[in-house]
Amino acid sequence: MSADLRPHLKGALRPNFQWGYATAAAQTEGAWNIDGKGESIWDKLGHTPGKIKDSSTADDAVRSYDLYKEDVALMKSYGARAYRFSLAWSRVIPLGGKDDPINPQGIQYYNNLINELLANGITPFVTLFHWDIPQALEDRYGGMLNLEKYMPDFLRYARVCFEAFGDRVKRWITYNEPGVYSLAGYAAGVHAPGRSSNRELNEEGDSSTEPFIVSHTEIVSHAHCVKMYREEFKPTQKGTIMITLHGNYSEPWDANDPLDVEAAERAREFEIAWFADPIYKTGDYPASMRAQLGDRLPRFTEEESKLVLGSSDFYGMNSYTTFYVKHRTTPPELTDHLGNVEKLDTNSKGESRGPESDTYWLRTCPWGHRKLLNWIWRRYHVPIFMTENGTTAKGEHVPPPPTEEVLHDTHRIEFFNGYLNALATAVKEDGVDIRSYFVWTFTDNWEWAAGYTDRFGVTWIDFDSPEKKRYPKRSATVVRELFEHLIAKE
Ligand code: BGC
Repeated sequence: MSADLRPHLKGALRPNFQWGYATAAAQTEGAWNIDGKGESIWDKLGHTPGKIKDSSTADDAVRSYDLYKEDVALMKSYGARAYRFSLAWSRVIPLGGKDDPINPQGIQYYNNLINELLANGITPFVTLFHWDIPQALEDRYGGMLNLEKYMPDFLRYARVCFEAFGDRVKRWITYNEPGVYSLAGYAAGVHAPGRSSNRELNEEGDSSTEPFIVSHTEIVSHAHCVKMYREEFKPTQKGTIMITLHGNYSEPWDANDPLDVEAAERAREFEIAWFADPIYKTGDYPASMRAQLGDRLPRFTEEESKLVLGSSDFYGMNSYTTFYVKHRTTPPELTDHLGNVEKLDTNSKGESRGPESDTYWLRTCPWGHRKLLNWIWRRYHVPIFMTENGTTAKGEHVPPPPTEEVLHDTHRIEFFNGYLNALATAVKEDGVDIRSYFVWTFTDNWEWAAGYTDRFGVTWIDFDSPEKKRYPKRSATVVRELFEHLIAKE
């Protein structure tokens, strides 16, 4: 299996198109309590029995904290122009709070990483928050459930990062997927901090209110953070700042049934417009959400609404798959977050949404990706930075060393062939403005509550070896070849 280079798409992407790999601190760094790092909510969850599928922890993860130089060299050999990574808040400020001490070794580590990237011609895209809030803030006041207490702590953390790294980092992302953080952590209760209405799973929480409260905190604190950056740092540092949202595509189960067509749009609004409408369109939540959720959905004050609207320079987008969506005939349950719909693998004609990966929710669906990009562009008209996209593949859990067959990762190659050609088609034929693409992910890593059981990397990791030995998969080369073809020469 090789790169599917389509002649008519040659040069479809702008010469300065940014592409590379995305990772998150908690999933890769390891060194969870080394060099002054404080505990995060994911350290805590990982050390709680019964919470992680393979009972693993991210104590060492893939040791990118120790191996960053080797990793930058490998990334360079993959042809990457950019690298999106996140900062561990509790490495920078171990206890997290506005009056808590800064950890100089944490600052030093990220300085080293940033300098290494720049020395190798790789542009850093830095995410401030990829789900790992310091545990101390959770203990002190319930983290993001408490906007008033949380905001000054988050703003001070952001300020420390802008001051320390902003001379070299020009691409900032405030939050990664605020919706997944709140839904998985406060509705399903399977991610940290592990709260929900399900008392068999979680001691505390309320799935009918907390996800909306936490998301509101994320949106409002994002907006304040951007205001601070624009007023105090941008004039001299001249960077850009955005938020990264998640969103899969929703396609009607029966395209001829107006109720399914409506349900699919409602599903897109509950998943995507929940964040994107306030930030890019109206300064408020979608009407469909207000209609179903009433006062359980917080309200923006007039001042907040003004601040939130226009608070992201670009549209940061993570997306993986597509679902068929069917309307429901019963009233929505109190714990519903999807817009009272069913999400299915096949449509009314029995057609599948795509080939299975090694992850239950993820299937390859390039046509859905093109539709998603068009939907976003038509609704918001803001240039899109794809900040995550990728897949797992069955059969990669083999004892080391991995076989030729495992390293020739056909399923993943087909995924990238499909999605990158869909993206280039959206640019060339549909006129969608897309400026970046980050593969999820660089190496196999700690996939949150799934532990090490989901291998998303273009690099196979021997998790049993002390040095977490890296083996490039064939997809890394294919991605490079695809971009060499798709990006126009200067
Ligand atoms: C997250 C990543 C995660 C990936 C695959 C995204 O939701 O940002 O941290 O590993 O999806 O599940």
